[in-house]
Amino acid sequence: MDIEVLGRVLSTIPDDDDHPYRTGPWRPQTTEWSATDLVVEGEIPADLDGVYLRNTENPVHPSLGNYHPFDGDGMVHVVGFRDGKVFYRNRFVKTDGFLAEQESGGPLWTGIVGNPNKSIREDGWGARGRLKDSSSTDVTLHAGVALTSFYQCGDLYKLNPTTLETLGRADWNGQFPSDVGVSAHPKIDTRTGEMLFFNYGKDEPYMHYGVVDAAEQLVHYIDIPLPGPRLPHDMAFTENYAILNDCPLFWIPEALAEGKHATRFYPDIPLRIAVVPRRGNTSDIKWFEADPTFVLHFVNAYEEGEEIVLDGFYEDNPEPADDGIGSAYQRAFRFLSQERMGTRLHRWRLNMRTGTTREEHLSDLVTEFGMINANHGGIKHRYTYAAQAVPGWFLFSGLVKHDTLTGKEETYSFGEGIYGSETAMAPRIGSTCEDDGYLITIISDMNRDISECLVFDAQRLSDGPIARVRLPERVSSGTHSTWAPGSDIPDWNTADKMEDALGL
Ligand SMILES: [Fe+2]
Repeated sequence: MDIEVLGRVLSTIPDDDDHPYRTGPWRPQTTEWSATDLVVEGEIPADLDGVYLRNTENPVHPSLGNYHPFDGDGMVHVVGFRDGKVFYRNRFVKTDGFLAEQESGGPLWTGIVGNPNKSIREDGWGARGRLKDSSSTDVTLHAGVALTSFYQCGDLYKLNPTTLETLGRADWNGQFPSDVGVSAHPKIDTRTGEMLFFNYGKDEPYMHYGVVDAAEQLVHYIDIPLPGPRLPHDMAFTENYAILNDCPLFWIPEALAEGKHATRFYPDIPLRIAVVPRRGNTSDIKWFEADPTFVLHFVNAYEEGEEIVLDGFYEDNPEPADDGIGSAYQRAFRFLSQERMGTRLHRWRLNMRTGTTREEHLSDLVTEFGMINANHGGIKHRYTYAAQAVPGWFLFSGLVKHDTLTGKEETYSFGEGIYGSETAMAPRIGSTCEDDGYLITIISDMNRDISECLVFDAQRLSDGPIARVRLPERVSSGTHSTWAPGSDIPDWNTADKMEDALGL
């Protein structure tokens, strides 16, 4: 293994920390590494070509007040595959908030479960306000540039997808909606090169939807009026429509009027799903009603006859009660437990002619964080690759390949004390069908105190990984990831050697 330490970042996380989302599998890193010639068990397929990008919540300071894992600073990891070789880098996302706290030597903002009035800085980001935009939630690739985002809206930070150098904030020629920001989970249509996005906040109309074209120009931006402030997290799209949502879990209006940001699930209010032509106007929005639930993540949507088919994860119990079981932390963070919420792969069928909704569970298994072959985004897909979690904890214990055509489910468990990241699907070069490719994840192995990047044959998940790549240091757990094919990365195909691809 050829390793270079770029540098270490100042951290004020206490040595005797006992917070479960800053220790153990969530132990943050302070070192930025570059590594080539990594130790590989098995063989890296020669037709695996591109980069697996993963964002992590990796705090260098505790939040003021109580810490929630979504507060952590963004650290992106890249594992790049080319010609059977592999490289790795990790870098902090140098957000304005991160840099301000590095300069001050300590935290300046309260976290999402804190009181905004106790933030030191008067300004900030997020739908709540006075939050730090840590850009640690999601990562995607648009117009050849990696973009990180923050779940409660903020800037989109541009990163070089191979070096992970922070290139600044997305500006869209001055058209970026800085007043509200952009939510995590902007969607990329690989056929048009467009990026579809939404944002939300506490001011009317409470949500917007927009389109950025392949040249990074904001070409569409409309109001999505809602009855009040909401907390949507994801969206979907088909070839012709964008799909937004109004879930009945939101800040309690009476508490919000007093400046308190407590949430409640309202089981008597339906889930509302908005369908709007991708370049349509506010007046074109069609609203559909469905069983009350909260949807954290959608998987995909497509058009079928007069229906729009929308897959995502239904929550049987969006607001689990404190049942007194488990540690104080486990109880406090029960909203991070897939098992407590009963998250299940679900399908809504929205009839564009009649305005009615049909819906059904697609699986009895509790899974979330579903990924597909991105080339099927907006068109019919068959396979969803999702995560199973450790009961009670925000830790991924294994993978499930859902076949939504046959109902067949193939599973793989990482093993006791081993936790994965969101698993991306990398189509093989010359891929001939939807699951012709590889599944990529990074595991944190607490038994051996190491991290590995695992590569699976997507058609043989249960056989286990075909390659294991040892990373220089154990990686913090965290959430979202993406696969970016080399063909989407500028200069990738003109770089003959790994060193060129890395810019070394
Ligand atoms: Fe998410």
